[in-house]
Amino acid sequence: MAKKVKKDNVMLIGFMGSGKTSIGIKLSYKLQTAVEDTDKIIEDREKMPITEIFEKMGEGYFRNLETKLLTEIYNSDSKRIYSLGGGTPVQLQNQALICKCGTVIYLKASPETIYDRLKNDKTRPLLMCEDPLGRIKGLIEYRSPIYERCADFTVCVDGKDQNEVLEEILNYLGANNNK
Ligand code: S3P
Repeated sequence: MAKKVKKDNVMLIGFMGSGKTSIGIKLSYKLQTAVEDTDKIIEDREKMPITEIFEKMGEGYFRNLETKLLTEIYNSDSKRIYSLGGGTPVQLQNQALICKCGTVIYLKASPETIYDRLKNDKTRPLLMCEDPLGRIKGLIEYRSPIYERCADFTVCVDGKDQNEVLEEILNYLGANNNK
């Protein structure tokens, strides 16, 4: 692959429920760097929760907002941690943008871990179906190679608590002061 010129952000990617938001917050404390959640930015701008955006405007509309936001991040001089929506890396143009925006960390989780974490969740429109585990398996099978391709570093979250995951990321970033 050609040498990439990366910006200074940390981009957290991974499936819904893999822990991007909470790990992003912990990382923010450790690195003393602001954290932003792209879903939250979109919700604030649209003044609607994601479920309502999907319902009223459709998934395509939401996906365009994700691309627009990534483009803004790329064009800004931000040095932040961004927790991205689980589907953001799926679109080809987003993959290039994510990679250029900063160091990409992939929080990898098995379908069973995700199902266990999200089985009572009502905020993920894509999982509002009769067979959420089947849906999770299908989506993860499709998306895993995409996540892997974008990632500079992959951390498996199965069976680990958040501090363990955080340690691995900090070690990778060379920012662990606990040693
Ligand atoms: C989605 C993941 C969600 C949110 C939307 C679609 C996806 O974000 O962007 O519901 O396609 O996987 P989280 O990964 O933060 O749950």
